[in-house]
Amino acid sequence: MQYLVVLGREPKLSLVELEALFGGKNVKSLTRQIALVETDNFPFARLGGIIKAGEVIQDSVQDYLAELPEGKITLGFSDYSKGASAKKSWQFALKQKNLLKRHGRNVRLIPNSDAVISSATAHHNQLGEKINHIEILQFDKIYATSIGTQNITAYAKRDQQRPARDAFVGMLPPKLAQILINLATEGAKTGTVLDPFCGTGVVLQEATLMGYSAYGSDLSEKMVKYSQKNLDWLSEKTPRLQKSNAPTVNIELGDATDHQWQAAKVDFVASEIYLGHPLSAAPANIKFKELKQDAETLLRAFLKNIAPQIASGTQLALATPAWLRHDGSYKGVDILDEIDKLGYNAIKYLNATQSDLLYHRENQIVARQIIVLRKK
Ligand SMILES: C[S@@+](CC[C@H](N)C(=O)[O-])C[C@H]1O[C@@H](n2cnc3c(N)ncnc32)[C@H](O)[C@@H]1O
Repeated sequence: MQYLVVLGREPKLSLVELEALFGGKNVKSLTRQIALVETDNFPFARLGGIIKAGEVIQDSVQDYLAELPEGKITLGFSDYSKGASAKKSWQFALKQKNLLKRHGRNVRLIPNSDAVISSATAHHNQLGEKINHIEILQFDKIYATSIGTQNITAYAKRDQQRPARDAFVGMLPPKLAQILINLATEGAKTGTVLDPFCGTGVVLQEATLMGYSAYGSDLSEKMVKYSQKNLDWLSEKTPRLQKSNAPTVNIELGDATDHQWQAAKVDFVASEIYLGHPLSAAPANIKFKELKQDAETLLRAFLKNIAPQIASGTQLALATPAWLRHDGSYKGVDILDEIDKLGYNAIKYLNATQSDLLYHRENQIVARQIIVLRKK
C-alpha cells in the first residue's frame, strides 16, 4: 500500500524517521513537505515527525466516497499541490458533496480557510479517525484518505500534566523523543531503550508507551527522582502499563562517562545529552568554542564508556547541542570524524545528511542536532 504523508516542522528529520521505520527505498520525498511511503502497515501514532498521513486511493475519489458505509458523512478536503487554493479546495469538496447527495447521502463539509484543513481542525473533527469522518488529501494526481492527524491534545497532556517538570533541564518535546526512539529502534517490536541523560524522563515515558522497556540514568539525584515520579504517574494513568507483561522501568543514578549499566541489557540508546546552560543570545566566538568543546568532551567520554557495554549493531540516536551563530546558521558538535576510532559508524540516510538533522524553532539559541550511530 502507498501512503501520502505530510511531514512535520523539520521535514528532513521526518524523512529519516520514515526511513528508519520503512527503509530508504520505500520513502520518496515529493516536495519539502510531502512524501510517499510504500508499506503494508503505517503505525501513525508512534511517528513524532508526521502531521497527517493518508492511504492512497486506487479508484476515483468519487467511487471511494460512494462506497462508504451507511450513515452521515463528515468530509474535509486538503490540497497540498503547488498552486492549490482555498477556493479550489472548497469547490472540489462541494462537488463531492453534491454527488453524494444525489445518492441520498447526508454530508457535512468541514470549511477550509486555506487550501488545506489545519491539523487542529482535522484533529478536532476526528477526520480519518472515526467511521465516515473523512479527509481527502491531494497532491497533484494522487488522492489519499486520511488515517489521522497528529494528536496534539495527547502530546500536550503528556507534556504538561507530568507531575515533575524542570524548566532549567529543559523539556524534550514528546514528539522528538518518539523520533529519537524510532531512529534507534528502527521499529523493532521489543527491547530495552536506555537514556543515560534521562533528566525528567520524557524519552523513558515515550519508550514505554511504544512498548519498550525503559532504562534511565542521570548524574543528578533530583532528576532520577523526577523521572521515577513521572514514570509512576504515567503507569498509574495507563492501564496497559500495569499489566504483568508490561514493559519494565529501571532508573538509577550514574555519570554517563563512567557508569556501568547493569539493571537490564541495553538494546537501543535514545537520549538528549546535556545541552549546557540556557543562553539568552547567540554566544560570542570564544564562548561558542568553549561550549562546543565541553559538549564534545562529554559526548566523547560517554561514547567511549558505553562502547564496550553494548552489542555490535546497537543503535544510538542522540540529540546534541547546536548553537545559533551570528550569521543565522547553526553549528553543533563535531564528532563524526572521531566516531570510527570510538567504535561506531554514522548511519547514512537517502533523504538527508546528518548535518541536515536539526530540530529548532526560529531564532532559538540552542538547537538540537540529531546524530545516529551504530556500534561496530
Ligand atoms: C538536556 S537534559 C535531558 C532532559 C531530558 N531529555 C528530559 O526529558 O527531561 C540533560 C540531563 O543530563 C544530565 N547530565 C549532565 N551531565 C551528565 C553526565 N555526565 N552523566 C549523566 N547525566 C548527566 C543532567 O542532569 C540533565 O538531567
